[in-house]
Amino acid sequence: MNSEALLQREYIEKLHTLLKEREEDYGRKLTACVVTFGCQMNARDSEKLCGILKDAGFILTDDEGADFVIYNTCTVRDNANQRVYGRLGALYSMKKKDPEKKIGLCGCMMQEPSVIEKIKKSYSFVDLIFGTHNLYRFAELLYRMYESNEKVIEIWDGTDRIVEELPVDRKYPFKSGINIMFGCDNYCNYCIVPYVRGHERSREAKDILREAEALAKDGVKEVMLLGQNVNSYGRGLDGSITFSELLKEVEKVDGIERIRFMTSHPKDLSDELIKVMRDSKKICDHLHLPLQSGSSRILKAMNRRYTKEQYLELALKIREEIPDIAITTDIITGFPGETDEDVEDTLDVIRKVRFDNAFTFIYSRRTGTPAASMEQVPEVLTKERFDRVLSLVQATAKEQILRYDKRTMSALVEEINEQDPSLVTGRLTNNTIVHFPGDKSLIGSIVPVKLTECRGFYYLGERIQEE
Ligand code: 5AD
Ligand code: SF4
Repeated sequence: MNSEALLQREYIEKLHTLLKEREEDYGRKLTACVVTFGCQMNARDSEKLCGILKDAGFILTDDEGADFVIYNTCTVRDNANQRVYGRLGALYSMKKKDPEKKIGLCGCMMQEPSVIEKIKKSYSFVDLIFGTHNLYRFAELLYRMYESNEKVIEIWDGTDRIVEELPVDRKYPFKSGINIMFGCDNYCNYCIVPYVRGHERSREAKDILREAEALAKDGVKEVMLLGQNVNSYGRGLDGSITFSELLKEVEKVDGIERIRFMTSHPKDLSDELIKVMRDSKKICDHLHLPLQSGSSRILKAMNRRYTKEQYLELALKIREEIPDIAITTDIITGFPGETDEDVEDTLDVIRKVRFDNAFTFIYSRRTGTPAASMEQVPEVLTKERFDRVLSLVQATAKEQILRYDKRTMSALVEEINEQDPSLVTGRLTNNTIVHFPGDKSLIGSIVPVKLTECRGFYYLGERIQEE
């Protein structure tokens, strides 16, 4: 284990001792609540926060009335920031009634200097603030906060360090994310991620494989390899290894039955990867391939480094090689300079690729990004265009999902259905959800399910008994 991980484990122990004293004063255990905003990367980071809190002796809860509440924030669009400010107001009311309550903030939003200024000025009741680069120091920072009873703020501009091997509390026992790289060097002109997550760093393949093996031993069947642009995995590592090669290695790990990954940048997706996906027994039939815009002119302004034609060629090649694959995407409407004609190009790509699902976003101006100083599109125009994109995406997704009607496919059972406890909810490898009769003993197993009835964006099904 590296020295930093050892040091942080010592802080977990120190916290544990400190909390024991508090427990005696309170006559009960202390509770902690981690609230996650944003992407899969943040969800994985939150599992790390939870792991440390749990080992330090906190009882984890979803209730924000907890003794310690931390928001793991996102800043990719401004509405995520606004939600955090809104919810901080509610936390403040709780803290006024319970002055011992501690409030923490971390994640991408904290890497923005203007946010830190605002929090210091208008939300001075926040006790602990750190960013994305020093998340591994959470135990130490939390210890300092409790021990000194003073505010602790630590933000780093960047780091070259990768510290894993700290406790992790997984949300699901049977599936897990694995960070394979950090940061992003692509600098799409609308995007704040490279500024808040730092430059791209790949993790050593042997460390990734060791983590996958340990997860498999711990009952994990499905892993999701995480990075902002997994297709450029390996850049900068000695003894160059590509993402396709990494996938082939992960495939060899006994016990791992499903492999997913997120996110692919179209400009770096190789023919080799398509082949590896096609020939693999474990890689799921799902590819998330963000389009952002279907207009070559806008793609250029966005600094995406592919054209409409190149994207179409790539997506159609994938459809041809792997006919069952679900292709999902991200689309932004309202990027500076976008016209009706550009939106027509986006609609054209949606029709041609027939996305199985798409996340559609209204462009959000992010301070410090090149697009922020470009001429913005009036909101009224964007809203109407966004609605057009969304309705085509939904219609296409509804048609696409019918491809699987009446087929028998394997589902990983994730949970009991929230509305109807006689059903369980499973996920197909193409990421489609299916609900079917079953009980909690099925959770975590992969079972064949016949898809009997399509309900718009998901299926009802029945379990097929294996021979
Ligand atoms: N405005 C709107 N959407 C954005 N995304 C990234 N930056 C912005 C922004 N400034 C979207 C992209 C990306 C997804 C994670 O978020 O579509 O793929
Ligand atoms: Fe942002 Fe582009 Fe990097 Fe994705 S690839 S995180 S959109 S800069």
